[in-house]
Amino acid sequence: MSAQLYERIPNNVNLSEDKRLQRALEQWLPNYLDWWREMGPDGFQEKDVYLRTAVSVQPDGWANFDYVKMPDYRWGIFLKPAAPGATVGFGDNYGQPVYQEVPGEFRNSLRRIIVTQGDTEPASVEQQRELGKTCPSLYDLRNLFQVNVEEGRHLWAMVYLLHKYFGRDGREEAEALLERRSGNPDKPRILEAFNQPCDDWLNFYCFTMFTDRDGKYQLAALAESGFEPLARTCQFMLTEEAHHLFVGETGVGRIVKRTGEMMKASEDGDVRSLGGIPLDILQKHINFWFSYSLDLFGGELSSNSADFFAAGLKGRYKEADQYTEHLVRDDVFNLTVVEDGRLAQREVPMRNALNEVLRGEYVRDCERAMTRWNKYLADAGVEERLYLPSTRFHRHVGEYAGHSFDVRGDMIAPEEFEQRRAGWLPTIEDREYVRSLMHPVTEPGKIANWIAPPAQGIKGLPFEFEYVRL
Ligand SMILES: [Fe+2]
Ligand SMILES: [Fe+2]
Repeated sequence: MSAQLYERIPNNVNLSEDKRLQRALEQWLPNYLDWWREMGPDGFQEKDVYLRTAVSVQPDGWANFDYVKMPDYRWGIFLKPAAPGATVGFGDNYGQPVYQEVPGEFRNSLRRIIVTQGDTEPASVEQQRELGKTCPSLYDLRNLFQVNVEEGRHLWAMVYLLHKYFGRDGREEAEALLERRSGNPDKPRILEAFNQPCDDWLNFYCFTMFTDRDGKYQLAALAESGFEPLARTCQFMLTEEAHHLFVGETGVGRIVKRTGEMMKASEDGDVRSLGGIPLDILQKHINFWFSYSLDLFGGELSSNSADFFAAGLKGRYKEADQYTEHLVRDDVFNLTVVEDGRLAQREVPMRNALNEVLRGEYVRDCERAMTRWNKYLADAGVEERLYLPSTRFHRHVGEYAGHSFDVRGDMIAPEEFEQRRAGWLPTIEDREYVRSLMHPVTEPGKIANWIAPPAQGIKGLPFEFEYVRL
């Protein structure tokens, strides 16, 4: 599986041997570039950015780091190599050879999964296209663009699968992926979190922390799919995704750190006078992005999740490593449901609760980050702490949607929720205040006042390095 880096579309899938597919993707390429120029980072297309580019899938040295203008980025198609003799790792076909073609009865639902995943990739680029203009440092600006170009590559990854395995429907879906637009009322992106504006850096870090992290768990569940091309595609996407999550987690963390320092330094603990982001605004953004991101896992009870597991298409998180029993025929899950207007426990078949199981893994990961952020506050000598709201709070999908809960998960009347909303979720004033702090800092080695500098630069380079040549 050698990489062919100098073809029009860099790839390690022997694209040149499948002329029909190659032609189809080469026809899609100019439309993609048009989309990138129209909807990609505004105002920076001609600048040299110090970016990593995937050039192989070998764990050591899979990426190349150099200055590149974003429209010249070498978006490619890279799959992890196939493991010889691989078998389906879970579900009713456990132990049988992995599928090289889409199982007929799952064609539509699998296409839906790939399109939904694919749709999030360009959507996030669109959401973030104005952010470069208010970057807190060149380091952060470069990280934004790194995330953006790699989300572009993830779109390529999904479009490759659509073109190769889904025939005419797949080609039409690939076109539609370039036609929807984040936040556009007439042709919105598929998932709601990807239609929310992401127009300041606090939102950007929360997005990469919470929303991209949902992507990690979805990709991880698909990375062990019995449909082998999908599994191998997702495995390599996860390699890139790790950096996006790092950008989000450390981004929020650096704001928390700076806010903690300012709280200690100010007379009355109010960081506004010092130009910082108050803890309550941070908390409200956490509540907002966490709850929207929980929705992305789908309903708590889902016959789809059961069907997908049964078919060996979508497993649990780290199915092979974490579990010894991969059939999950008789297991049950205790789910908190809403019955007659109150919370009740119900035993449900485990296979129907797998969305909730995956969500649980995600929540634990977010709690880990939260502990780290709170340590920054403790280190600064500040008493206050941040928290994750209940998974029932502010939900729009699943069992708890249509009911109102406070941040502790207690059911409340809708009127009470509305009365207390401004204390839990960002208000227009909060957003305006955050936006008022967003002034570009583009001198190498300098950083905006509301965020702490990173612990390290990129790839062993110092923070002062000129990551983007403006
Ligand atoms: Fe992605
Ligand atoms: Fe990402």
